[in-house]
Amino acid sequence: MALITLRQLLDHAAENSYAVPAFNINNMEQGLSILKAAQSVDAPVIIQASRGARTYAGDIMLNHMVKALAEMYPSIPICMHQDHGNNEATCFSAIKHGFTSVMMDGSLLADMKTPSTYEYNVEITSKVTESAHHVGASVEGELGVLGSLETGEAGEEDGSGAEGKLDHDQLLTDPDQAADFVSKTRVDALAIACGTSHGAYKFSRKPDGDILAMSVIEKIHSKIPDTHLVMHGSSSVPQYLQDLINQNGGEMPQTYGVPVEEIERGIRSGVRKVNIDTDCRMAMTGQFRKIATETPNEFDPRKFLIPAMKEMEDLCRDRFERFGTSGNASKIIVQPMEEMARQYSTGELNPKTLN
Ligand code: G3H
Ligand code: 13P
Ligand code: ZN
Repeated sequence: MALITLRQLLDHAAENSYAVPAFNINNMEQGLSILKAAQSVDAPVIIQASRGARTYAGDIMLNHMVKALAEMYPSIPICMHQDHGNNEATCFSAIKHGFTSVMMDGSLLADMKTPSTYEYNVEITSKVTESAHHVGASVEGELGVLGSLETGEAGEEDGSGAEGKLDHDQLLTDPDQAADFVSKTRVDALAIACGTSHGAYKFSRKPDGDILAMSVIEKIHSKIPDTHLVMHGSSSVPQYLQDLINQNGGEMPQTYGVPVEEIERGIRSGVRKVNIDTDCRMAMTGQFRKIATETPNEFDPRKFLIPAMKEMEDLCRDRFERFGTSGNASKIIVQPMEEMARQYSTGELNPKTLN
């Protein structure tokens, strides 16, 4: 099956009131875990690679790996997405290597540390959208800076994240500005900031509305109801995985992530893509530690990787089920990128996000 674009997948999700988890991958084992879970519940998939993942695995490896996964799981639509593209070059080289979708994260400058101006964000995102749409690829933009409303800081483990203290105006997406941004940039999906941050250390207590501002998402959705919203930093950092790590020699301080029920609330307000990396890392690492603790004489990597894949597969399946993604893979007839390009060029596609 041809790879699906983000736009086609999220349009289907919106029409059918569900969201799709976007899992980060760096290697074959993570890809297999996601696809096994998806196959077991008939869920379409978003696989995303950060710039770090592209450096780690290499573009040729990632490109062939995703094609191999599509061949192995022909009934599952797979969207291949660039996570946190920092400039035009990153986005266009991703498309050249088979990605069907890119995130142009203009909320930060290309160093991915310095918060940008609104004008810079509009300009660079519009440029990427215009070119990407010519070849049918989708674009996710970001407005607002990810980071903690408790501390004003971005997460410690960020692959991308602002440096220094941020104020609430920067950490919460402004609904009126969101409407302006979408109409100017013509993005297919909009990542918003509502108090989540990347990594494991998001909240020092179970989050309430003061530190996880789901109400902001609801306000944005009421302004631009047809725009597909994206929640970054959406790992739940489950207690059972913290325990698995810490009971096997880990030293993770107690922490709290985004409760799945809050994500479900977001899905009722237009959230269609939910970014998850940390939970998958914790699932795999927890099992590595368990095997190393229980069988210290073991040295066959497969003995570590098989349970690690199973732990990650279980986590992915749970998110597919909770987000309503399950049961939808077989309902989608994938449109090739050429057809998406044609629809952008005739104007059939863009007006949908303009509300
Ligand atoms: O953007 C954050 C993702 O968790 C990717 O992290 O840059 O370490 O691959 P990474
Ligand atoms: P987590 O660190 O919460 O998994 O977020 C991942 C993410 O947003 C990738 O873009
Ligand atoms: Zn992110």
